[in-house]
Amino acid sequence: MPHLFSPLTIKDITLRNRIGVSPMCQYSADDGIPNDWHLVHLGSRAVGGAGLVIVEATSVEPRGRISPEDLGIYSEKHVEPFERMTRFIKDQGAVPGIQLAHAGRKASTYAPWKQKEYGVDVPDHQGGWEIIGPSAIPFSEKNRTPKALSLEDIQQIQEAFRQATIRAREAGFQWVEFHAAHGYLAHSFYSPLSNERTDQYGGSFDNRIRFVIETVRLMRQEWPDNLPFTVRISSTDWVDGGWTIEDSIELSKRLKKEGVDLIDCSTGGNTPNPSINVGPSYQVPFSEKIRHAADIATAAVGLINQGMQADDHIRNERADIVLMGREMLRNPYFPLKASQDVHQKDKLDIPVQYERGWTGWN
Ligand SMILES: Cc1cc2nc3c(=O)[nH]c(=O)nc-3n(C[C@H](O)[C@H](O)[C@H](O)COP(=O)(O)O)c2cc1C
Repeated sequence: MPHLFSPLTIKDITLRNRIGVSPMCQYSADDGIPNDWHLVHLGSRAVGGAGLVIVEATSVEPRGRISPEDLGIYSEKHVEPFERMTRFIKDQGAVPGIQLAHAGRKASTYAPWKQKEYGVDVPDHQGGWEIIGPSAIPFSEKNRTPKALSLEDIQQIQEAFRQATIRAREAGFQWVEFHAAHGYLAHSFYSPLSNERTDQYGGSFDNRIRFVIETVRLMRQEWPDNLPFTVRISSTDWVDGGWTIEDSIELSKRLKKEGVDLIDCSTGGNTPNPSINVGPSYQVPFSEKIRHAADIATAAVGLINQGMQADDHIRNERADIVLMGREMLRNPYFPLKASQDVHQKDKLDIPVQYERGWTGWN
């Protein structure tokens, strides 16, 4: 029976354990280019023992960034700085992953700490560029109204995803995640709450998922067959009349046919204040349902911050891997603590440089 410290093999990639660093925006880049912060931040989590380290939402074109400080992979000049990062993460025994994204109608905002600094709660305008979406429906009454994409615009963005996938491969990533969650562009296409199109990209379920399916198809062609290709979805909108778990199961079945290897099961993000009963592991039931009903590997994420808790999800087949966000910000060495909690200390890689930190005082 697999447990938190069992290796996980998908295609030709084997993770040393089932703990992954969830993608987390750092709002610390200039023109999308990763710098020393990103190298040290992500590198530390690889040193800390995670099996998988996924780089934050990285935009496929400049206007797809959530803020002007987001990472991007929209030109050749981005490849080398990412390559530096992937090389280091691999050297530490972890697998480097990247989340490829387009923020759609939630783009062009402030970094969270700037919102505080400026004393505003309107997450808008800093980027100053036009925002786009499937339909001219703003995310909230405080946000600007996006421009509805033309068919030509859609093709151009899909092409940007294709090129970003090629660059991710050139930069040495071994795991790619298409960001189709949290109210960003892809999610806003499949959720009926943000898509009122009357063409082939709106209306029926098949039409609303068309953007995701077509984009994944283009990306999958460029991503090596022997490397994992994954998709993060919002498994529910948590809103009546919105996207549901049943929709997610059907989408996951379709994505499996497109060559997707794993579904990363998040929720929400497409409406400002949905009613969610948040608590430990609150999103895990979505991972469990999708895993069994769509017969596909899943990642569970959300308020999982204890070793025993994470181990339990793997042992009980609720997920194939657990991703951790905020706990990893608090403690890059979380895997070490978890390995002690679940009595698998011998399964952890401790960098030789740090061995004396774990072997007592002599
Ligand atoms: C600072 C921060 C930045 C985040 N950025 C992203 C992101 O770039 N892409 C994404 O899919 N989720 C993002 N998230 C969500 C996390 O990946 C994760 O799904 C969420 O925090 C729940 O997991 P946790 O309870 O372990 O933190 C972010 C979360 C935080 C706290």
